[in-house]
Amino acid sequence: MTEAFPLPTLHRSPSGLMLEDLALADIAAQFGTPTYVYSRAALTAAFESYRHALGARPALVCCAVKANSNLGVLSIFARLGAGFDIVSGGELARVLAAGGDAGRIVFSGVGKTRAEIRQALIVGIRCFNVESAAELDRLNEIAGQLGQRAPIALRVNPDVDPKTHPYISTGLKNNKFGVAFADAFALYQRAATLPHLSIRGIACHIGSQLLDGAPVVEAATLVLRLVDQLAAAGIRLDHIDLGGGLGIRYRDETPPTVADYLAPLLQLFEGRHEELCFEPGRSLTGNAGLLLTRIEYLKPGAEKNFAIVDAAMNDLARPALYDAWHDAVAVTTRDLQLQKYDIVGPICESGDFLARARELAVAEGDLLALLSAGAYGMSMSSNYNTRPRAAELIVDGAAVHLVRQRETIESLFALEQVLN
Ligand code: LLP
Repeated sequence: MTEAFPLPTLHRSPSGLMLEDLALADIAAQFGTPTYVYSRAALTAAFESYRHALGARPALVCCAVKANSNLGVLSIFARLGAGFDIVSGGELARVLAAGGDAGRIVFSGVGKTRAEIRQALIVGIRCFNVESAAELDRLNEIAGQLGQRAPIALRVNPDVDPKTHPYISTGLKNNKFGVAFADAFALYQRAATLPHLSIRGIACHIGSQLLDGAPVVEAATLVLRLVDQLAAAGIRLDHIDLGGGLGIRYRDETPPTVADYLAPLLQLFEGRHEELCFEPGRSLTGNAGLLLTRIEYLKPGAEKNFAIVDAAMNDLARPALYDAWHDAVAVTTRDLQLQKYDIVGPICESGDFLARARELAVAEGDLLALLSAGAYGMSMSSNYNTRPRAAELIVDGAAVHLVRQRETIESLFALEQVLN
């Protein structure tokens, strides 16, 4: 049986698993483990699938930086002409450092600080996705101090159930995100009276890892109604930002393709003048990356066998946080009996697992690839247990680029001091 991988440029050869033209075993030998490895071709293809599906329609694809904020990855998207969705001053600085265009940045987030707002106004971002009445006032004040008008959209909360994990659904009434739909009209009217704001658009993002586009169409329909009511009241919007959220296959999910996800939305917006904007994260990077890890020990047990690897929940938090599934694939095939293993890290927590009850034919020292790890993998990593963070690589054909060095213990101490 041939294996089907969600990462399109991953394939098996006599030298084991290969990403594009490189053997993962060679990569591990050269750079060590644990290491995040991304495929440039897969990143590019994912971005192009949005552009292709959007065709000639005026639209901007803003990569959600939170999903993967590596400068090398961002620079690939910047070169492709992407926009970016940011949620902090740090992400803003990253986009600029990666060669991204400030004029294509949208700034989401419920807690923008004064310093972040100032920084974003000075570089001239495209739009602030405003999430509260208080933020409107703050923006107006700071833009006034700078002698500017801040470009804004209100992020509205359409109260649509995205039918995904509760931790990653963001468009319901009880979420902290966005302004209540019922309040949006009045808030736009108020924004129109504030002298240092320039009303540009409207935004909504209802959740992540959506496997069905229907809730987004429902939200977009509500948004459109509001856009038309605003126009009737003399408030004309130039763009409509429908957020991110398209899911990917981790295990056996069948999310719509980008084209199928966008088709009903494009139909809904046909003939309208507004520019469409999307903020995909996971669907751009998730299945373009994997986490390469080595088995340190096999530990057979009465109830369970453990494969203890050198990656842990600090490297990939999703299984511990959301009970998320990531495929675990042996890099080299062996003529061994399949055994069921929990793949766990060395961290002192029972929640430190990367995958559970997986059938593998492996020995100590073997490499495993944890798939679908390109989104919310490295970007959510930590130094828990004083573990230096993993290296990050981009494979491009037969070339490999080290886009983040493995942290060193010294680098972890750099900001600390002993008391004398
Ligand atoms: N735009 C906004 C305003 C967002 O809050 C998010 C994600 C995105 C865009 C990108 O959504 P995507 O296309 O990636 O679904 N850590 C979780 C996911 C959290 C998503 C937060 N917001 C995970 O690992 O599943």
